[in-house]
This record gives sequence, C-alpha cells and structure tokens, in this order.
Amino acid sequence: MLIKRRRGWELPESAATPESVYFNRRAILGGMGLATIGSVLPVTTARAEQPDPSAKLYPVARNAKYTLDRPITPEKLATTYNNFYEFGSHKSIWRDAQRRLKVRPWTVKIDGMVGRPMELGVDDLLAKMPLEERLYRLRCVEAWSMAIPYSGFPLKALVDLAQPQSGAKYLVMQTLSNPTMFPGQREFYYPWPYTEGLTIAEAVNELSFIATGLYGKPIPAQNGAPLRLVAPWKYGFKHVKSIVSFTFSDKRPVTFWEKLVPQEYGFWANINPEVPHPRWSQATEKVIGSDERVPTQLYNGYGEFVAGLYKDLTSEKLFM
Ligand code: MTE
Repeated sequence: MLIKRRRGWELPESAATPESVYFNRRAILGGMGLATIGSVLPVTTARAEQPDPSAKLYPVARNAKYTLDRPITPEKLATTYNNFYEFGSHKSIWRDAQRRLKVRPWTVKIDGMVGRPMELGVDDLLAKMPLEERLYRLRCVEAWSMAIPYSGFPLKALVDLAQPQSGAKYLVMQTLSNPTMFPGQREFYYPWPYTEGLTIAEAVNELSFIATGLYGKPIPAQNGAPLRLVAPWKYGFKHVKSIVSFTFSDKRPVTFWEKLVPQEYGFWANINPEVPHPRWSQATEKVIGSDERVPTQLYNGYGEFVAGLYKDLTSEKLFM
C-alpha cells in the first residue's frame, strides 16, 4: 500500500483531483473490487536510467523578456509534485515516471494539413529548433501555482517547419500511447491517449512554448519528457506531456478532460479568477513552496500577450 506523508500545502487527493472523476473512478474500481492502480496492474521490473543525449544542450540562454512576480519554485518541489495520470491519479508519480518512461528513441510525427509532413527523432527536431530558457508561471485548475524555468523552443518554430495549409485551424497534440511505460493507460475509464489542442493563432502566439528542459537540464520524465507544451495563460491541464504527434486539422479536437467531464473542462481553459470552477473558486491560488495564497490574475497575468486572440470569440466558453 502507498503511504504518503502530506505536506502542509498539499490538497487531499479527493480535492486535488477533478472530483467527479475521482469518485466515479473509485466507484467503478470499487465495484470491481479494485481500488487503486497499484492493485490492478502487475509490477514490472525497473529499467536502468539511460544517459540523455540532449544533456549537452543545457543550460541555454535565458530570454529576459518573460519575467516573474514571485520566486522560482524550488526544483525539488516542481519535480516531485506532479500531475501525470498515465502514472496514476495522485501527485507522487515521479519515481515511477523516471523508472518507466523511456525517452529514446522518441519519434515525433508532424502531419495532417501541412505542406511538409514528417517523422523525425526528437534529437533531430531539437537540432532544428532555437532553444532558450523562459521563466513562466504555471497555474493548475486545482488552484495551486508554481514558477518554473523551462528550456525549449517557441511552438511557432515548429509550426513554421510544418508549413500548415491555409485551411488548418487547430494544432492537436497527443501523448505517447504505451501501456507498458504508462500503466495508467491500462485504466479503461480514461479516454487515452491524452489529447490537447490550440488554435493555430494560439500556437503561433509568442508565449506558446515546447519545453524540452527544466532548471537548466533535460526535462525529467515526470514533467513530460522529452517534449511538453507550455501555454502559461491557460490552466495546466492544457500542458500535454510526452508529445509524439503534432497534427494540423480543420476540426477542433475534443480534449482529454473535455471528453471525460465536459461540464467542467473545456477546450479553451483560459485562466480567469472571476469564473469559478463548478466546484471551487478560482479567485486565489496556493503558491507551492510557500505559505502564501495570492490573487489569481486574468490570463495568469499574460493578458498583454494573449487577450487580443479572444476579442471576437464572445460566444465561446473561454474560461473553462
Ligand atoms: N499530460 C499528460 N499526458 N497527462 C497528464 O495527466 N496532466 C496535466 C498536464 N499535462 C497531464 C498532462 C495537468 S492537470 C497539469 S497541472 C500539468 O500537466 C502538470 O505539470 P507538472 O507536473 O509539470 O507540474
């Protein structure tokens, strides 16, 4: 049995997990006589850690344009308090993620409505991309936040590489499907693989970033190695981890959480303190690593970069 010592700022799992999912999952699994992932799945042997061939790329130069209003979250916290449902619905997945997730070879597919469809290894992709470091705030829909130094490249550079056709309106990103590496994917209840999307206008916005590193090193498994989306004006569940495909489409994808709990999670997920989640307020956030709760800001404080994207979308549910 997993015995977890909870730190002061941690929410109980029932509060931190979208609750209807938590309770439904418990009910379904409980009815089957299966209470936790650990009890459902066989234990596999730990793999030896592989050297990461991208390690020599880091640290990269920081882009000073993106500044923080709070201290950087201690690395230890950002890398041990994670959401990654492929490894379970609790926060302490980091050891398991590091043991199981094999990030080389890692093939990335760029396809759909593009002029240049391609499949390439992640190291070939990294060699083509302009790497830099950015300090970004991360605000989870569960009302906690961190401030993180991400290394990586602007998503626009990948869009430019792909040369989308004029009819493409959305960029759809998916996590690897591999139930051996991701035991959570053996839970039939979830709509795997984890799928997220942005409009093309959002994808080419200067803030949209693909993180390949964290704290001046390759990004750890638990934070979404080797490629993970960061869109800091949107709730953290948009930040799809361990991406293998970038598909350009004229159709809006139904995203992972939207498929699971459509009345609570939508496509846009822009941060707004005045629009509560159906079950809790979004007015303030717990700053992980401090005792502080601070007011949440519209678009997480990034309105000057992104507010213009939404001015004509008044009929959309932009904040869920
Ligand atoms: N990506 C995948 N594939 N699976 C997940 O469960 N969780 C999301 C997002 N990306 C998730 C994911 C959620 S809810 C959050 S808040 C962030 O990852 C957390 O990122 P972090 O663990 O690096 O803080």
